[in-house]
Amino acid sequence: MYINCNDTELFVLKKIAQAAEELGLPCYLIGGFVRDKILGRDTKDIDIVCVGDGIELAENVSQKLSPKPEVHFFKNFGTAQIKFNDMEIEFVGARKESYNFDSRKPDVATGTLEDDQNRRDFTINAMAISLNKTDFGELVDPFNGIKDLALKNIETPLAPVQTFSDDPLRMMRAIRFATQLDFTIEQKTFDAIGENAARIKIVSGERIADELNKILLSKKPSIGFDLLYKSGLLKLIFPQMVDLAGAEYIDGKGHKDNFYHTLQVVDNISEHTDDLWLRWAAVLHDIAKPATKKFEEGHGWTFHGHEVVGGRMVPKIFTKLKLPQNEKMKFVRKMVEMHLRPISLTKENITDSAIRRLLFDAGEDFDALMTLCSADITSKNKLKVKRYLENFEMVRKRCAEVEEKDHLRNWQPPISGELIMQTFNLQPSRAVGDIKNAIREAILDGIIPNEYEAAYQFMLQKAKELGIGH
Ligand code: CTP
Repeated sequence: MYINCNDTELFVLKKIAQAAEELGLPCYLIGGFVRDKILGRDTKDIDIVCVGDGIELAENVSQKLSPKPEVHFFKNFGTAQIKFNDMEIEFVGARKESYNFDSRKPDVATGTLEDDQNRRDFTINAMAISLNKTDFGELVDPFNGIKDLALKNIETPLAPVQTFSDDPLRMMRAIRFATQLDFTIEQKTFDAIGENAARIKIVSGERIADELNKILLSKKPSIGFDLLYKSGLLKLIFPQMVDLAGAEYIDGKGHKDNFYHTLQVVDNISEHTDDLWLRWAAVLHDIAKPATKKFEEGHGWTFHGHEVVGGRMVPKIFTKLKLPQNEKMKFVRKMVEMHLRPISLTKENITDSAIRRLLFDAGEDFDALMTLCSADITSKNKLKVKRYLENFEMVRKRCAEVEEKDHLRNWQPPISGELIMQTFNLQPSRAVGDIKNAIREAILDGIIPNEYEAAYQFMLQKAKELGIGH
């Protein structure tokens, strides 16, 4: 076998080979599985192409496995899928495709293995391994994908304009693979992305979001965002991010290029977290800088309020990019809105009360916020970076001390609304909320400790002041 497979994989591949032989269908492993095995990457998705009916082959393979997996098939596409152990195996008949110009739906006609390899996206994804008796395990590689793997090169099998025009999603895939694998996109292929960028409009937002998320989950996401920017795709799919690019000068004073700053922050944070949404927060933390930018005489460039305006932009950007409108989005918004808060606490003479408010407002997302703030330090001056990081360490220490005393991160009010209503014989009303808020503020300001008894006494006193109850 040209590639290394484990025992289960080999067992399944032999069953597939046996089924294909019985049906008289030439059959091959193809695509990502071959690529990833050669690269030594983890892979669970097996793609099988056969010269004939992929659904029939899947049915036959399923009969040979125990427990017998269900066959899911899509008649229109001539594809079938089975799941066995933790593997997902997809079967497809070899195709000669030509695409509709206005959609990503291919007009499918049956073809040979060679036709099928011709219509694949990149040389590194067009390699096949024979599952036929005569040459089982051998590599069939008409475009020298193996060389491109060694050279870390992404290139289309046919003329790139044709490959991208057939399916414009491949422009995003090229950039995503370059990012995930740390490969280079061959020049003509990259130029063709620029020439065809406008065709991205026929790709659904969901597919674009999938690719963006994969780029963002890579080890060094800046590679992908920079390529998206340079190819012109980013302008079309996420223009707000492009607006961050460039530096303006007035009276010889410039500001930093916020696009490259953002990319640096995203790379920094990626060294510390695999959380997709915290990485999105890094992408978006300065997104409102262009909208809030001002040049103030004698002062220089300011971006007042960019965290608040940026927070407001998050839901809109998430909608446009087909990202979820749920707790994840709220988390990203909160991170964007709060990203300057810890910095404001690195000055001297910070009160416990300010620390308590940060702990309370950040709540369970406190660690995530601190990770974002540390990643936001991108100065080239090593001494400055060291000083900033030390300041953050101080904030963390203060927070840990205050948290140990006051337990504000997952704060539950010591006095409930029900208790307030019971005590003063009140219906749900504004007065109940006023008392609850007053208790919370007193705890945050350190007037009373975060404890039931103290809060109860405070409640009685506050009610008296407000003329509530007995
Ligand atoms: N393919 C293609 N054009 C596309 C999508 C897929 O030519 N737009 C081909 C490639 O040969 C690819 C194979 O179909 O290798 C399987 O596609 P898919 O599972 O989407 O991608 P993988 O290459 O397996 O990689 P990943 O799982 O990381 O997406």
